[in-house]
Amino acid sequence: MSYKLLDGKSTSLFVQEEIKTEVDRRIANGDKRPHLAAVLIGDDPASKAYVGHKVKACNKVGFDSSLIERNTNISEQEVLDIVSELNKNPEIDGFIVQLPLPSHIDSQKVIEAVDPSKDVDGFHPENVGKMSLGLDTFKPATPAGIMTLLNHYEIDTEGMHAVVIGRSDIVGNPMSSLLRSNTSPGNCTVTQCHSRTKDLKSHTLQADIIIAAIGKPHFITDDMVKDGAIVVDVGINRISDPSKKSGSRLTGDVDFENVAPKCSWITPVPGGVGPMTIATLLQNTLKAADGK
Ligand code: GUN
Repeated sequence: MSYKLLDGKSTSLFVQEEIKTEVDRRIANGDKRPHLAAVLIGDDPASKAYVGHKVKACNKVGFDSSLIERNTNISEQEVLDIVSELNKNPEIDGFIVQLPLPSHIDSQKVIEAVDPSKDVDGFHPENVGKMSLGLDTFKPATPAGIMTLLNHYEIDTEGMHAVVIGRSDIVGNPMSSLLRSNTSPGNCTVTQCHSRTKDLKSHTLQADIIIAAIGKPHFITDDMVKDGAIVVDVGINRISDPSKKSGSRLTGDVDFENVAPKCSWITPVPGGVGPMTIATLLQNTLKAADGK
C-alpha cells in the first residue's frame, strides 16, 4: 500500500500563520498581545528543548512570552508561589508548568493550583472534567493537535475503531476522550490499552486507527498493524546513532520503516505530532487571551 504522510510540520505552520494573522488584527485594533509564560524546573534536556520550542513559537506568531527557570532543588512551596504569582499577573494570559517535575514536588498539587482560566495545558481537573463532558474548554495540546491534524487532512474517523496505547493524563486519557466524542473528527469506538494489557497485538490488529503513546522506541512493529490503518506516533525517544554528529537521533514508538508500507496514513517522527502540540498550545493561549 502506498502511504500518505500526516505532515505535522507543514500543518503546524498553517495553524501558526492563522494565529499570526489574528494577532496582527488584534494589535491593529489596539488590543493586547497574547502572553504565554512557561515554568521550567530542573535541567532535563528534553524538557528544556520542548520549552525552548514553545517560547520560539510564541515569538514567531507575535505573542509575548516569559520563561521562568528554576533549579531542581526548588521547594514545592516555591513552585506554588510562582504559580500563584502567574495566576495574579494580569499581563499573563496563560501559562504552563512543564512536566515531569522533580520527584519531591507533587505535580497534582501544582496542576490544581493553576487558575483554570489560564490553564492552557488543559490539565486542571476543572478543564479535564469540562472536556470529558464535551464542554468548551482548553484541551490538552498533544491530543487536540492530533485531532487538528486529522481534520486538516479531512480524515473522517466516524465509526472507526481507534486503539489508543497509553493512559497518561497528558496523552492517552484525553486522546481516548476526544476520539470517542460526538465530533468530527471523533465518533470512534475506542479501545484503550496500557502496560498491563494482555495480548496487545490482538487489539492493535483490529484498529482502523492506532495512537501510539508508549514511550518505547520502535515498539509498534508491522505484524501489529492491519493493512490500511492510520498510525499516529506520539513517541519522542532519543536513541544512539553513531552516524549522527551528536551520536543520537529522535525516533518514535513506531517502527516507521516497516509499518508505513501497511498504512493509509502515518505521522513521521520528528515532524508529526510534536509540531502540532506546539501549534495547539498557541491556539489555547489565543483562547485564554480571548477570555479577558
Ligand atoms: N510534558 C510533556 N508534554 C507536556 C505538555 O503538553 N505540557 C506540559 N506542561 N508538560 C509536558
